[in-house]
Amino acid sequence: MEPMNFVIIVLSSLLVLLASILVYLSRSPKAMEGIPGSLGWPIVGESFSFISHFSSPSGICSFMIKRQQRFGKVFKTFVLGRFTIFMTGREASKILLSGKDGLVSLNLFYTGQQVLGPTSLLQTTGEAHKRLRRLIAEPLSIDGLKKYFHFINTQAIKTLDQWQGRKVLVLEEASTFTLKVIGHMIMSLEPTGEEQEKFRANFKIISSSFASLPFKIPGTAFHRGIKARDRMYAMLDSIISRRRSGEEFQQDFLESLIMKHSKSVGEEDENDDNKLTDRQLKDNILTLLVAGHDTTTAALTWLIKFLEENPSVLENLREEHMQIIANRKDGSDLTWCEVNSMPYTAKVISETLRRATILPWFSRKAAQDFEIDGYKIQKGWSINLDVISMHHDPQVFPDPEKFDPTRFDAPLKPFSFLGFGSGPRMCPGIHLAKLEICVFIHHLVIRYKWKPLEKDECVQPTLVRMPKNKYPITVEALEK
Ligand code: HEM
Repeated sequence: MEPMNFVIIVLSSLLVLLASILVYLSRSPKAMEGIPGSLGWPIVGESFSFISHFSSPSGICSFMIKRQQRFGKVFKTFVLGRFTIFMTGREASKILLSGKDGLVSLNLFYTGQQVLGPTSLLQTTGEAHKRLRRLIAEPLSIDGLKKYFHFINTQAIKTLDQWQGRKVLVLEEASTFTLKVIGHMIMSLEPTGEEQEKFRANFKIISSSFASLPFKIPGTAFHRGIKARDRMYAMLDSIISRRRSGEEFQQDFLESLIMKHSKSVGEEDENDDNKLTDRQLKDNILTLLVAGHDTTTAALTWLIKFLEENPSVLENLREEHMQIIANRKDGSDLTWCEVNSMPYTAKVISETLRRATILPWFSRKAAQDFEIDGYKIQKGWSINLDVISMHHDPQVFPDPEKFDPTRFDAPLKPFSFLGFGSGPRMCPGIHLAKLEICVFIHHLVIRYKWKPLEKDECVQPTLVRMPKNKYPITVEALEK
C-alpha cells in the first residue's frame, strides 16, 4: 500500500470514530428509552452484526427477524452511525409511505445528499416534490417510453449476440445494457464510443461513492465521487448549452425538460412552478441515473439467476415467449404491443423483486412527532421500514423462500408487496424498468440456455442488493 493511501485510511478511520462518538454523545438515547431494542456496543452499536448479515445470502432478514421475535415489530438499534428505529408490517408501511400530513421525509446518507445535490427529487418534500414528480412523469409514462422501444430492443439483441458459447458475468452485462439505455433516453448518448466510455467511467465512480466514508479528503471514494459528479455536470452543461443555442436537437428526456420546463439564463422567476433551473435539471437527471441504474441491473441479474434455479418457472416463461413468436404472421421482430402483453413475465418480475428485495429497507426521517403501535416517535429520528421481512412473511407469502410467480395471480392487499414502493415516493421508473427487463428476457429465453459457473450465494455490501460474484454463467444456443 502506498504511504499516502495508508495515511488517508488512518485519518478517515479516526474521523469516522470521532464522528460516531459525537453522534453517540450528542443524541442521547435517553429519549428512545421507551422503545424496545438494544443499542449494542458503545460507539459501534450493532453495526458489525448488521453488516455481516447484510452480505450473507439471506441478507438482513435474519437480523430483523431475530429482533422482531425479541422486541416486536418496532425496535431501536444503532447501526451505521445512526440511532434508528426499525418498523415492519402493513400498518407501519401505510403510515410511513402514504406521506400523510408530511409525517416523514426521505433520509439519505450524507454522501448521497452531497453527491446528488440539494434540489434532487430525493431531497425535496411536499409541494416541491410533487412538482418535480409531475415534470418527470410524462417522459417515464408508458406512452412516453414508446419512442425508446426500438433502441432498447436493438441493444438487448446486440448484447445477447455476444453471449453465445461464452463465459458471461451477468451483472456486468446487465449494467452495460441498462446504462446504454438510460444514457440514450436522457441525452441521446451513442451506445458506443468515447462519450459513452467517459459517461460509464464517471457513473461507476459516482455510484460507488454512495456507500463510502463521508470525508471529502483527496484519495477517498467520496472525494472521487464528487469529482466524477462535477465532470458529469460539465458534460450536461455543454449538452444543455448546445441545445439552447439551437446547435443541436434530439428528441430525448433532456430536450423535453429543456423545452417545456427549464429556465434559460436571465429568466429569474423563481416562482414559476413549471420551470427548472439548470441546477435542478442536472441534480434530477443524476438522481434518475443513480436511482434507476443499479436497481434495474440487480433485478435483471437476480431474475436470470432465479430462472436457472427454477426450471419449471423457466419452462413456463419460455412457453409464453415462444407463443408470442408463434402468433406472429410475418416472422418479424418483437413489437411494442407484444412487450406490453406478457402476463407471466410480469409475475416473474414481481416474484424476483419479492425474493431478492433489492432495496431491503426504506429510510425515512420523522418530520414531526407521531405515534406508532403505541410508541412515541420524535421529530428528527431515523426510521427504517424493514421491507425484507415483509416480503418473507409466511402469513402473506406462504413458503417464502420458494420462487413462485403464481403468488401474484390474485391481487395482494395494499402495502404488502413493495417491490417498487408505494405512495407519493413510489418508483417513477417502474415502466422503464419493466420494459427493459421484458425485452431482455424475451431475447434471452428464446435463444439461449445457461448454467452458473459457481455457487456463491453472497451479496455485495452495497445499498442495492446484488450477487457478490456478479453471477458468472456459460451460455449455449437452444436446440431448434
Ligand atoms: C427494477 C428496477 C427498480 C426497482 C426495484 C426500483 C425500486 C424503487 C423503490 C422501492 C423506490 C421507493 C423507495 C422508497 O420509498 O424509499 C424507488 C424510488 C425511486 N426510483 Fe426506482 N426502482 C427501479 C428502477 C428505477 C428506474 C429505471 C428509475 C429511473 C429511471 C427509478 C427512479 C426512482 C426514483 C427517482 C425514485 C425516488 C422517487 C421519489 O422519491 O419520489 N427507479 N424505486
